[in-house]
Order: sequence, then structure tokens, then C-alpha cells
Amino acid sequence: MASSFVKTLEWKGGLDGHLSLIDQTLLPTRLQTIDCKDVESIWEAIKVLRVRGAPAIGIAAAYGVCVGLQELDLTACSEQDLLERLNEVSAYLAQSRPTAVNLFWALDRMTTKANSLLAKQLTTTQIAQTLLQEAQAIHDEDRIMCRAIGSYGAELLEQGMGVITHCNAGGLATSEYGTALSLFFTAHEQGKELTIYVDETRPLLQGARLTAWELLRSNINTVLICDNMAAQVMHEGKVQAVVTGADRIAANGDAANKIGTYGLAVLARHHNIPFYIAAPSNTFDLTLESGDDIPIEVRADEEITCGFGRQTGPDGVATYNPAFDVTPAELITAIVTEKGIIQPVNQSQISELLLA
Ligand code: MRU
Repeated sequence: MASSFVKTLEWKGGLDGHLSLIDQTLLPTRLQTIDCKDVESIWEAIKVLRVRGAPAIGIAAAYGVCVGLQELDLTACSEQDLLERLNEVSAYLAQSRPTAVNLFWALDRMTTKANSLLAKQLTTTQIAQTLLQEAQAIHDEDRIMCRAIGSYGAELLEQGMGVITHCNAGGLATSEYGTALSLFFTAHEQGKELTIYVDETRPLLQGARLTAWELLRSNINTVLICDNMAAQVMHEGKVQAVVTGADRIAANGDAANKIGTYGLAVLARHHNIPFYIAAPSNTFDLTLESGDDIPIEVRADEEITCGFGRQTGPDGVATYNPAFDVTPAELITAIVTEKGIIQPVNQSQISELLLA
């Protein structure tokens, strides 16, 4: 099974190494990696979605800090120089995309680690080395969390079920099994036969280009639908669950995910179908009371007016292109995390599981 997984991100070499990542803008037709040897190329890769998906963005940013520190002459610089550069790189990477909290979580973790190393009589080379290990730990932990999410969540899926998913919350969005897709991969390993209806996910088609590609590689029954077909598919009784990932979950359980997720949750409620979110604990932002406080990325007009490599809207037409929406907690049946399943979804259940 594991052989069908690709290395979405990989650190190559030692302290002077670089980040290699799959250029997801080229899928499904080309599986090609790019080498990011400076922090600008990592920022650009996040911005234009060569690497995307909340956990993967966080991992890329953590490695981005390590790449950014390579500009220093570690044999000559002081601890203070290193910290200043780290803060500069971190502030820069934090400007790449606003919604997925994993980005900020990973940058904070790198900064906290650096601060904890000061006054420990380490050389700046040793500090940089420890920070690289921290980025690798973030990467490794993500793999373990995704497997745990799959184990908990697969219990919610039964033999023969049809399930809708939206966008891509698979190995390409994480370091291996994914979050939502981890449920499907794990259920499949357990011998449960599922049919996954994959929303194509306009405007950038992460469902069609990435999720369908990943599921097919794992020999899971995959049916690609356009986003506007979900209601009819539900009405026809073809699906018994909806599972998506998330980019940021507020303290009350409101969850931001790819635009279109909210609509899917409304449809699921109307058809009495459970709606599940699968996400690791670092996707929760307990500093935000509700989803109203989650920053929603608004992307370029061209993603709508030139969506398929050709002009699809008239010259000069106004557009509005929010990349995410927020599903209210009341529409979410359960949230599957690496620590267990949160159900019902509310502030006290969330704190009980996450802060235990
Ligand atoms: O714009 P994207 O492709 O980064 O959006 C990704 C999603 O919305 C995913 O569902 C989410 O990040 C969870 S990935 C495990």
C-alpha cells in the first residue's frame, strides 16, 4: 500500500541541503519535483500552490526557515544575527498565504525552538542543525498524525459506502496518508470497498487533478463529479458520508476549508448525511473564538476568468474569488483528529480532547 505514496516534500542533504517538492500545478499529467534552494522559491511555491494543503504548507515553511538561514555565515555570525534572520524569514513566509493555520503554527514552533536554544552555549552551526532537526520532526510527526487520523476515522466508514470529498486532503497535502484521504486509504487496507465521489473543486481543480489522481494510484473506486453535481448525487442515494480536510478550525469548531465545503455541509444536512472533517490538532486555532475570525484568502481574478488555460469569462468582468469558506460547527457531525474523534463538535468537546 505505502508504495503508492509519493514524497510530496523531501529535504535533500545536510545543513547546506535544500527542499525538493512535487510541483502540484503540473499534476495530473506530470509528476515532477522542483528544488527550492532559497526562501523566495519556497514562498513562491506556497503562493502559487506548487505545494498546498494546510499540513504541507506548514512543513514547507519549517524547511523554508532552514533554507533562509543558509544565507548566514554560521562560522562568523552571532546568536543574535541568527535570531534576526530567522525572524525576517519567518515574517516573509507568513505573508505567503493567510488561511491555513499550520503555516503559522510551524513558523512559531521554529521560532520557539530557536529561542529555547539561546544561552545554551551552542555554536550557531549547532543551533541551525537543531532547527533542521525540528523541521524534520514536524515532517515526521505529520506522517504519524495522519496515520492515526486514518485509524480513528476508518471506523466511521462501512463496507460499500459512497463518500464525497472536496479539494485534496491526501498525501499531496501532507507528508503521506493525508487527513480526509487517510480514512479512505485505511478503510481500503481493512478490506472495505468504498466509492469516493470527488468534487472537481473549482477554480483550481485540486479534486480532479490531485485527489482523483491519488485515489486511482491506490486502486480505490473513484468517481469524478463537478462541484454542482453533489446535490443530485446525494438525492440519488449514492453517498452515505462526506469527509473533507480543514485549513483552520476555531475554538468553537467552525472550520475553514476549500471554497465549496460549506455548501457541501449544507447539502449533507438537508439529505441527512453525516459530514466529517479530518484534521490534525495543529489545524485548530484556539485563539479564535469562532470562524468569523478566520482570515479568508481572496485569490486572483484570472483563476476564474481563465480557469482552464483559456479565457472563460468576458474581458473586464468583475469577479470575486474567495479560496476558502467556513462551515459552522453545527453542520459538522464529527472532527477526526490524531487524538480521537470530537463529537458533538463544540468548544468543550474540543478543549477536552485537545488540551487533555
Ligand atoms: O488551496 P489549497 O489547495 O491549499 O486548499 C487545501 C484545502 O482546502 C485542504 O482541504 C486543506 O488544506 C486540508 S489538507 C490536509
